Amino acid sequence: MSYLNITTQVSDGVRVITLSRPKALNALNAETLKELRQAIEEAVADVQTKVIIITGAGEKAFVAGADIAEMSKLSALEGREFALLGQGIFSLIESIAKPVIAAVNGYALGGGSELALSCDIRIAAENAKFGQPEVNLGIMPGFGATQRLPRIVGKGMANFLIMTGEIIDAQAALRVGLVEEVVPKEKLMERAREVAAIIAKKAPIALGLSKRAVNIGLDVGPASGMAYEAEAFATTFSTSDQDEGMNAFLEKRSASFKGE
Ligand code: COA
Repeated sequence: MSYLNITTQVSDGVRVITLSRPKALNALNAETLKELRQAIEEAVADVQTKVIIITGAGEKAFVAGADIAEMSKLSALEGREFALLGQGIFSLIESIAKPVIAAVNGYALGGGSELALSCDIRIAAENAKFGQPEVNLGIMPGFGATQRLPRIVGKGMANFLIMTGEIIDAQAALRVGLVEEVVPKEKLMERAREVAAIIAKKAPIALGLSKRAVNIGLDVGPASGMAYEAEAFATTFSTSDQDEGMNAFLEKRSASFKGE
């Protein structure tokens, strides 16, 4: 499929979705959000795609936020629709069975930070910068930061970022647990692909169920999360990948998983 503000590329089971709106530092307008939804749906439907990487085009920005020029014209009702649009797409990213890695290559502000938060793993370039500067614009986060940020960095740091609008660098993001790794700028995609390649070799059904168990557990709490985990664990025993994985171990060879 061809898009105006997104490019996609698949190789070796890894699909890279690149947000590309150079004139606005890849800011998310409604059109780009809808294209992102289509690109995610396309990735889900494609059997070749095992793992997804989301990144931004250019040297400077992952995504510099929701599009401020577009937002400046919204009424309250339209604001709600815009929030629901963004929330829906980021929740889709979180709910799909395929693992999603954010490769953060510069500014990840507002909706850009929220996009990264909806991914399963965040790898940042040294020049990455994170923040929720909505308060500077007289608004608040609307694409999930009030919910995902405290779950990832804790309530205090989430409030710090949301209330001050301060922008933190990649090392600070690493310290607070907002990203998992920081790498030199020129190594970002290499490292993201390396991590994606490791994951792409694992059993897809087990990966999808693990992702869901982590996310469900964070929503419903540990007791119900444990109950879901036990059922999901049980489900993996009905897959041929479980036979393959365990037989491969016992036969001292590497496993080859089929997602069945
Ligand atoms: N929405 C719309 N356009 C944006 C944008 C956004 N979120 N972020 C950047 N742009 C546009 C700028 O308006 C500018 O366009 P222009 O060349 O037509 O004037 C272009 O992208 C380049 O940005 P510029 O501000 O000139 O780059 P910079 O290096 O001086 O600053 C930022 C980079 C990211 C610090 C700055 O662009 C910024 O603060 N952006 C807004 C961040 C934000 O508040 N995001 C949250 C929105 S809820």
